[in-house]
Amino acid sequence: MLFDTHAHLNDNQFDNDRIETIERAKENGVECILTVSSDIASSIENIALTQNHDIFYAAVGVHPHNVMDLNNNIISALIDFSTYPKVVAIGEIGLDYFYDNAPREVQKVWFSKQISLAKNLKLPIIVHDREAHEDTMRILKNEKASDVGGVLHCYSGSVEMAKQVMDMGFLISIAGPVTYKNANKLLDVVKYIPDDMLLIETDSPYLPPEPYRGQRNEPSYVKLVAEKIAKIRGTSVEHIANITSSNGKRIFGIQ
Ligand code: NI
Repeated sequence: MLFDTHAHLNDNQFDNDRIETIERAKENGVECILTVSSDIASSIENIALTQNHDIFYAAVGVHPHNVMDLNNNIISALIDFSTYPKVVAIGEIGLDYFYDNAPREVQKVWFSKQISLAKNLKLPIIVHDREAHEDTMRILKNEKASDVGGVLHCYSGSVEMAKQVMDMGFLISIAGPVTYKNANKLLDVVKYIPDDMLLIETDSPYLPPEPYRGQRNEPSYVKLVAEKIAKIRGTSVEHIANITSSNGKRIFGIQ
């Protein structure tokens, strides 16, 4: 059974066929989808999805693209959201220096604040780090994020950084780019991660694996990520499915 640990099923790209998308995921062996939020509106939508479909768990939080909107009312809203039973993480939070949609100083402040929120709530965090490896590591260390741990999602760092974040109790989640031709650095990371620290995800509707590049991504394609990882590690897809699924349930406290 597969666990897609990072998708955005609230996205309006699924508005016309969300039910069919969930069915296709199930047909392809997906038993669990963590639908991840990027602001208050998507947090509300994702909580509703968890109430309507067994397959979903949710993460609530504000993405670095949206931190300009953050204020203390939003932190109180996130505290309320965390009381819903299928909310299992704070995310996605972090730094994005590729798009720089918000000033970096503002991104850093709100990354830190949401880490401390997660620590108060005793929930793991889902970290988005795009071209901000150094500052991400520094903030995770300074804020003692190891108290709650979590996931570095759509991992794009080095083997050395993977080692450091795993030492802090963070799992490494691999997404569709592992299937791309230029994935050399990522292949070394995939070979290096121990069985008990590996997760897989789609980041649907973004980042589709081959052969779907350029199209909408969906959770059923997490199977293609598992297949590619199995090939790189010289093991079976079933093994990758089993370990990543049980790792996901462990870190997010899902029975
Ligand atoms: Ni995402």
